[in-house]
Amino acid sequence: MSTGKQSTGPDRIRKITESIIGLPTLPTVVAKMIELVDNPRTSAASLARLIASDQALTARILKLANSAYYGFSREISTVNMAIVVLGFNTVKDMGLSLSVFDAFKSKQQHPSFDLNRFWEHSIACGIAARMLARNYRSRYTGEAFVAGLLHDIGKVILNQYFQNEFLSIIDAQVKGTTLEEAEASVIGTHHSQIGSWLAEKWNLPRIISRSLLHHHDPWNSQKDPILVALICLANHICHLSGFGHSGRLRMGEPDPQLWEIFRNENVPLDEADLSNLQTEFLLEFDKSEAFISSLHESREL
Ligand SMILES: [Fe+2]
Ligand SMILES: [Fe+2]
Repeated sequence: MSTGKQSTGPDRIRKITESIIGLPTLPTVVAKMIELVDNPRTSAASLARLIASDQALTARILKLANSAYYGFSREISTVNMAIVVLGFNTVKDMGLSLSVFDAFKSKQQHPSFDLNRFWEHSIACGIAARMLARNYRSRYTGEAFVAGLLHDIGKVILNQYFQNEFLSIIDAQVKGTTLEEAEASVIGTHHSQIGSWLAEKWNLPRIISRSLLHHHDPWNSQKDPILVALICLANHICHLSGFGHSGRLRMGEPDPQLWEIFRNENVPLDEADLSNLQTEFLLEFDKSEAFISSLHESREL
């Protein structure tokens, strides 16, 4: 779809919107899985039923559950058993991640934007966001993983449909331009906006599209500022820890308005906690090693 001819502003935005409208819908099973995450009364039985309704997803989840990384001596032969052995959240997050990877399979690789490293960044952000939500606002734990995993999904749309423009945005950063400035001048919009259009097209819960839209400016979010702020903080932690690569060459310090959100909502998080949070995240990442390794293996197949 990319012509290589540069045109900026409204024309590019219209083309981007059209390409999103033309995208396939999110597989029903994934959409339902995200709905389940949003519902605190979700049971293991309903998750198992939902996954079992999709044979291909069931096969992949069982393959992951039986991979060497988990090291179980008995074969895990049903989704129910996988939920008992690996835990409800692991199976749910696995199902979500696998389905999202599938929806965005791309052969287009480029040295400036490595999709495997991009997904590494996304999974890391999902894990960091889930950890932060669990520790500081537990009612958002389910949404935090999804919003963290998807926060930069707008970049995948750019990479797939507007690769020339996207690569010039990435390369402009080498000369000192910020990612935001480069996006504004080349495409007239931002990956956060594109991600939220995609979330709307997919009918994802508003809380998720809002998190994607404001993951760099949570103070502008009209609702759920805590969740959006946790996604923003998770993204900073991942950049500081250097996991994967999101296409952004430099990440500044968190804006003071981020810490203000936490103060206003009585969440005990401020700038001085950043290095401890990074250490906690590294421990959390280690605990999730089996999950992460098996997902990477499944992406490379
Ligand atoms: Fe971003
Ligand atoms: Fe990011």
